[in-house]
Amino acid sequence: MNHSGIKILVTGGMGYIGSHTVVQLLARGYQVVIADNLCNSNRNILGRIAQIAGHAPQFYEIDLCDKQRLIDLFERERDIKAVVHFAALKAVGESVQHPLKYYRNNLISLLNLVEVQDSFKSNNLVFSSSCTVYGEPDALPVTEKSPVKPATSPYGNTKQVGEEIIREQCAASNLRSIALRYFNPVGAHESALIGELPIGTPNNLIPYITQTAIGKRPFLNVFGNDYPTTDGTCIRDYIHVDDVAAAHIAALERLINPPAEAERFEVFNIGTGRGNTVLEVVRAFEEASNQKLPYQIAPRRDGDIEKVYADTSLSNAVLNWKAEKDIHTMMASAWEWEKNLKINPIV
Ligand code: NAD
Ligand code: WQD
Repeated sequence: MNHSGIKILVTGGMGYIGSHTVVQLLARGYQVVIADNLCNSNRNILGRIAQIAGHAPQFYEIDLCDKQRLIDLFERERDIKAVVHFAALKAVGESVQHPLKYYRNNLISLLNLVEVQDSFKSNNLVFSSSCTVYGEPDALPVTEKSPVKPATSPYGNTKQVGEEIIREQCAASNLRSIALRYFNPVGAHESALIGELPIGTPNNLIPYITQTAIGKRPFLNVFGNDYPTTDGTCIRDYIHVDDVAAAHIAALERLINPPAEAERFEVFNIGTGRGNTVLEVVRAFEEASNQKLPYQIAPRRDGDIEKVYADTSLSNAVLNWKAEKDIHTMMASAWEWEKNLKINPIV
């Protein structure tokens, strides 16, 4: 399909998942506009996106909580066909310490966005949701019909409330939306030019592993080995960020050319459908990097889910999308990214 001229606004497009999605949109000929306040990213990502894609997208450094700036963007760009909304704060622990910061940033930005979309008749929205909405699931794999559990963090709650705001707005207006519930996005682009950029000590497993391997951290703490799993460590559905990005393209195409049976608001799981324990991930990293990873068993981390992985049959069938990259590719690309960051730091 030729997408030249179809303009897509990507909020948070300088961030981890956003930058990988922008690269894929540009490769398909979409016209991309990024809005990002750089609160968890770096302006130099733009040059790296351009290096991969051959040209740079339009970039607006704006905070989505500033509604007037968002209106100005829509005034200037005019014909924004769809929005992919990544912009949000995402650190679970920080959200417990600073709940209002999370509610303000993640919800005010969303409200501003859907209001401005409504007034500019920009009626398509892809929303970044999360497997966190399922909490500790009663049954595995988790389907989209699995119950949404009471949120255990303000961050998680912003995703649940975000979905509700969008569902209700879709019922009451011309908005159509797809919420993608990502499981655990990991890895980096094959160029090693873009990837996950944690600020300070990483909370997530894969950046902690790669920073340990590169020598920034002495060892990995494996949080708990007494869970009822094969090796006692927690299970997650790790998915390559390129596969997550590709799901956005599939979602956008469904929104832009909706088949008759499409609902106005739809939700899809974005995972591989496979679960790996923490120690399996460590082994996969050791194989991919050809080196031993120092680790020690530490106490369980508060609030950790024991095991969660996705049933992806709905996204496979309806979005005609499937995760393709295996855990080895995820670890190898994360490692290449970490090594390249040491040689070519993003400052
Ligand atoms: P990220 O922090 O790398 O990217 C988010 C981007 O949004 C950053 O560039 C940041 O500067 C920007 N941003 C934040 N608030 C903003 C605001 N008010 N105005 C403008 N820009 C703003 O995060 P990511 O990992 O790429 O996550 C993208 C989305 O996916 C988020 O909504 C996140 O909650 C969701 N998500 C992430 C994961 C994950 O594990 N990475 C899992 C599930 C869901
Ligand atoms: C994975 C596994 C840890 C670090 C988080 C958010 C969730 C969603 C995805 C956004 C767990 C173990 C980790 C370490 C470890 N994000 N671990 N040592 O907890 O599945 O989910 O990211 O929506 O909302 O909570 O990801 O990468 O933190 O942990 O042993 O130093 O690795 O206990 O089992 P998690 P994670």
